[in-house]
Amino acid sequence: MSKKILVLPGDGIGPEIVAEAVKVLEALRRDFGLAVELESGLLGGCAVDAHGQPYPEETRRLARAADAILLGAVGGPKWEAIERPLRPERGLLAIRADLELFANLRPAILYPQLAAASALKPEVVSGLDIMIVRELTGDIYFGQPRGIRTLDSGEREGFNTMVYRESEIVRIMRAAFDAAMKRDRRVCSVDKANVLEVSELWREIAQTVAADYPEVSLSHMYVDNAAMQLVRAPKQFDVIVTGNIFGDILSDCAAQLTGSIGMLPSASLDAHGKGMYEPIHGSAPDIAGRGVANPLATILSVAMLLRHTLNEPALAERIERAVGRVLDRGLRTADIASEGTTRVGTAEMGGAVVAALD
Ligand code: NAD
Ligand code: IPM
Ligand code: MN
Repeated sequence: MSKKILVLPGDGIGPEIVAEAVKVLEALRRDFGLAVELESGLLGGCAVDAHGQPYPEETRRLARAADAILLGAVGGPKWEAIERPLRPERGLLAIRADLELFANLRPAILYPQLAAASALKPEVVSGLDIMIVRELTGDIYFGQPRGIRTLDSGEREGFNTMVYRESEIVRIMRAAFDAAMKRDRRVCSVDKANVLEVSELWREIAQTVAADYPEVSLSHMYVDNAAMQLVRAPKQFDVIVTGNIFGDILSDCAAQLTGSIGMLPSASLDAHGKGMYEPIHGSAPDIAGRGVANPLATILSVAMLLRHTLNEPALAERIERAVGRVLDRGLRTADIASEGTTRVGTAEMGGAVVAALD
């Protein structure tokens, strides 16, 4: 029976990069028997323009009915001035919450061909393979109360609430330990337990869950140190598990270790294997519409979709191998270009991956 994939191109470079990922899916369907049906929908600024809502009812219906979702990116200067509940980013948060996509896997892997594109020395990053497990439906992103209020003095104050329930910590810890069991069996939990009560609870639950995974070693690190260690000696990490906001920040940092934020895919999973797959980067308004964005993070997100939702690991590897071959040939979008390589645009890069699939 064929599986339903909802495609949400979004805003900015979203439609450009998603078009290349769709080419890859279509090629797998045509040449390798992948049984999928693609539908498309609106999320983010494009949905605000069409329906006045960043996560319209129609998209919600399609998203709930789909087996997996492929997303580009949302947001941009056009929608920055509108009221907060209608911002594109709220649409992204709403779909994550609505589908309970609490486990966000962000693998930072350096393709050896890109060692020269990393901002760090090749010896610091060569062989890099980290899995960041970011909690995605809690924390200060969703905590109540939130808002901007006027004090008696007439001064205004903005406030958000960092909050985690035990059950939310338990399930993300399990996701991290399960991931570690398939890797080097080391989990580093990143928090701010020297200052925050929410982190104190986070740490305690991490210990409790660790007891169920005797083969996995657990360590703890404060988030400020983790940011520094990621740049100093990133290969010390296997799995990093952390909350929503720390994970957001650390994953952009880890992305740059791999050469470019345009290389990092992600999977956002619920408890039953349903997932939304998207590059970790945004809509890149500074380069949108020019056909120069790197589509590889989105294409590699399709590989994650095949692995985690469609249970097609061989096809996932086929995509990852094809990306490797294209990089072997020296093809590079601007963000990963280095001396002696050939500069290509978004569509050329996508086409090259499709051609390298067999
Ligand atoms: P961004 O990730 O869009 O861009 C940061 C920098 O990285 C830019 O210089 C951009 O050109 C570059 N970049 C990003 N993706 C690239 C790619 N595939 N190829 C080449 N270069 C790439 O972050 P930002 O500028 O802070 O945010 C822009 C908009 O995107 C904002 O509205 C923000 O809220 C939104 N955003 C959305 C998502 C998402 O949809 N998941 C994620 C992050 C930011
Ligand atoms: C990401 C983005 C989003 C986040 C924004 C756009 C809401 O930065 O997916 O990393 O902070 O989660
Ligand atoms: Mn982010």
